[in-house]
Amino acid sequence: MSTVLVLNGPNLGRLGSREPDVYGAANLDDLRTLLEASALDGVSIDLRQTDDEAELIHWLYEAVDERMPVILNPAAFTHYSYALRDAAALVTKAGLPLIEVHISNPHARETFRHTSVVSAIATGVIAGLGFDSYRLALDFVTAGTPD
Ligand code: DQA
Repeated sequence: MSTVLVLNGPNLGRLGSREPDVYGAANLDDLRTLLEASALDGVSIDLRQTDDEAELIHWLYEAVDERMPVILNPAAFTHYSYALRDAAALVTKAGLPLIEVHISNPHARETFRHTSVVSAIATGVIAGLGFDSYRLALDFVTAGTPD
């Protein structure tokens, strides 16, 4: 059994009620259900959310130590957290995929959202596709995983 870490940053615990016009009406439990249904046999989904930068950083260390691929929605940390970027770089430098995902398309929103300090060290970025951003990232990180 291989595990994919699906990490979500601040305010994403409020999905479902937070700005549904931007993020939709579904919540993180719905996202977990979607990803579990899409996962190949033998792949487990470990979906977590925190509002705490340090906790998110420590989860990235865990990904390195346990050799887990990462799907990361850094939420607002995307736009300014060099500490998170440096921790995310440890993942990709260790040869593990880390896909930055966003539910909305930050480039179509306020100017401060146009900058990501994470993208340059990510394996790839998927944005603007709702929960499909995560689903496509899951397809990518598990491609080649035997059924
Ligand atoms: C987000 C986009 C960010 O700009 C924002 O701060 C979020 C969510 C997204 O998934 O669209 O919290 O990462």
